[in-house]
Amino acid sequence: VSPEQQRMIEAHQFCLRYFQHLLLNTEDGEEGLQYLEGRGFTREMIEAYGIGFALPSWDALTTLLSRKGYDLAEMAQAGLVIQKEDSNGYFDRFRRRVMFPIRNEAGTVIGFSGRVIDTEGENAKYMNSPESPIFHKGKILYNLDQARPIIRKERKVVLFEGFMDVLSAKTANVHNGVASMGTALTLEHVQKLKRLSNDIIVCYDGDNAGWEAAKRAADLLHAEKLSVEIAVLPRGLDPDDYIKQYGTEAFRDKIIGEPLDFTSFMMSYSKRNKNFQYATDVEQYVEEALQYVALDSSAVKRELHLKQLQQETGITQETLTTQLRHKEAQRR
Ligand code: CTP
Ligand code: MN
Ligand code: MN
Ligand code: MN
Ligand code: MN
Repeated sequence: VSPEQQRMIEAHQFCLRYFQHLLLNTEDGEEGLQYLEGRGFTREMIEAYGIGFALPSWDALTTLLSRKGYDLAEMAQAGLVIQKEDSNGYFDRFRRRVMFPIRNEAGTVIGFSGRVIDTEGENAKYMNSPESPIFHKGKILYNLDQARPIIRKERKVVLFEGFMDVLSAKTANVHNGVASMGTALTLEHVQKLKRLSNDIIVCYDGDNAGWEAAKRAADLLHAEKLSVEIAVLPRGLDPDDYIKQYGTEAFRDKIIGEPLDFTSFMMSYSKRNKNFQYATDVEQYVEEALQYVALDSSAVKRELHLKQLQQETGITQETLTTQLRHKEAQRR
């Protein structure tokens, strides 16, 4: 760690305490606290994860950092303040947001994600720290510092889309969850996960974006030789929504407890938006499904998937088997 990085880390630690003080002890922070309570956050969770609040002010943090002797140009590089376009002044990056500290695997705070407390207005829902000498979005897995020992013990990791889902899952006693920061899963994420556990459950949102991202993540993880399962949520719900609607027990038992295997998920993915009244849709489904069935290393599972295909499409076992052999031959 360079002296510059060390100062940036110190500044983040300072900001965390400041944001938390505003949230917990000030009248200005009450709207943030109300927001969190409305979403079911307990005081314990807020303290354990260092959640705070940034004032609506344009310069409260900037002024404070400056008074504490931090160099504002350096703080701008760290992403805590922003340089004004037409002068050499600075202003607060995070304003009127609930602040979630982002820690690296060692537990050091290296960035923040700030959430708006009302979604009216044109402000983006989340504002994240930019790339900086200490923060690299493509490498961070939220909660990895806390989850590591549990992942090791359970030999399984759950990958969520966002930190809200990680925190919500904890209320359902799912403590082995991590999340990438909204960006697509990178190879660096995958390598990190691979060093921890061979078994991974992808649990992304049940909207279209979530399905697309889960498909991409599953392909990537599978290609990197991890054993991947996919926990699928009802259409339109994310893990946090599901827990609020159906409860913690259902989430743990039915969603995390009964994930789809890789091949079954890929078949479900392919089946989405297809209508088997149409021959072209059937043909496309069989084609796509068999491609993944051919990848399944278990002969028993391949047979079961074929049976499912036959039931879904009415195509005979003979035709499906012939096609599958064809695909298997192509793979060699
Ligand atoms: N994200 C982001 N910027 C946005 C939207 C999303 O950086 N404007 C990232 C965040 O890291 C977020 C993740 O993508 O944690 C998942 O996005 P989304 O599903 O939209 O957010 P939720 O986790 O569901 O948050 P909330 O429940 O507060 O809406
Ligand atoms: Mn670096
Ligand atoms: Mn989402
Ligand atoms: Mn979501
Ligand atoms: Mn959500």
